[in-house]
Amino acid sequence: EAKDALVKVSEERTLEELRVKFLGKKGVVKEFLSQLGSLDVEMRKELGKVANEVKDEIERLIAEAESRIAAIKREAKLKEGVVDVSLPMKTLPVGYPHPLTLVTQKMVSIFQSMGYTVVDGPELEKEEYNFDMLNIPKHHPARDDHDSFYVQDGWLMRTHTSPVQIRTMLNKKPPIAVVVPGRCYRRDAVDATHSHTFHQMEGLVVGEGISFADLKGTLLLWAKLMFGEQTQIRLRPDYFPFTEPSAELAVTCPVCHGPGCPVCKHTGWVELMGCGMVEPTVLKNCGIDPSKYSGFAFGLGIERVAMTVYGIKDIRHFYENDIRLLEQFRA
Ligand code: PHE
Repeated sequence: EAKDALVKVSEERTLEELRVKFLGKKGVVKEFLSQLGSLDVEMRKELGKVANEVKDEIERLIAEAESRIAAIKREAKLKEGVVDVSLPMKTLPVGYPHPLTLVTQKMVSIFQSMGYTVVDGPELEKEEYNFDMLNIPKHHPARDDHDSFYVQDGWLMRTHTSPVQIRTMLNKKPPIAVVVPGRCYRRDAVDATHSHTFHQMEGLVVGEGISFADLKGTLLLWAKLMFGEQTQIRLRPDYFPFTEPSAELAVTCPVCHGPGCPVCKHTGWVELMGCGMVEPTVLKNCGIDPSKYSGFAFGLGIERVAMTVYGIKDIRHFYENDIRLLEQFRA
């Protein structure tokens, strides 16, 4: 009976029922063995041996049924998940680097080639690093240019990458040569040239005998590598609390279409960054001796550079992720 049933069984549940029926605690074999006690010794030995052989045989048939059922299941699963390799494949849409990424990468690699290191800082910043230690105390008029998103007392979304100057100088002794690309925030009304969230790249060099000539030479080389060999720079006096003297750097319009050029408004020049010699007070604030060391710093808007390079007229294009704009930047 066991053999007939076990060679046919094709379901796990039925197999388990059969196992209980024949080999279980109250199963046929146990039942049979429990009755042997009343027989004489010879008979008991003989029938006990037969019963054990029957039990072994049933176990073997169960194992066989188990592997048969496993094979059936495997087969069913394969049928279910069969892949038709002859079907045409789906092509996934491919993305391209964002223009801001392209410009950032190019600027970063130019400065890396001059020996600069790339460093990072937090976007949620201490007021102390964003302003105070950069020589912009509370109620300083320069704070008015930085309409800020305060998060809580003493903390804000950084309004520029300059606080990373402080973090760098607090952490490292000169010589220092770093660039800091990163996101910044200002509570500005959004229009064609303003965005509450934007990107800057900061540069900081501190060492012995660093002069304004080093700043000028560095930025001229950067401008030529960035916009082309013919590019010239112009430095005009400016004011920043954390640099003295300070300057505004302009480059000759890299895309000049002559009169009516939308990028330089036919002035021939595009103003790109603020820069200057690190204010001695700022060095002192960071534990660097201004009688031994000097340095220069610069900061520029990455959007502004990208708009100049690619002739993009509205800053909002960068954030809308319109695929028609992004597709124009396939490498
Ligand atoms: N942090 C200044 C800004 O956001 C730019 C700057 C950086 C100027 C470094 C001088 C030196 O306007």
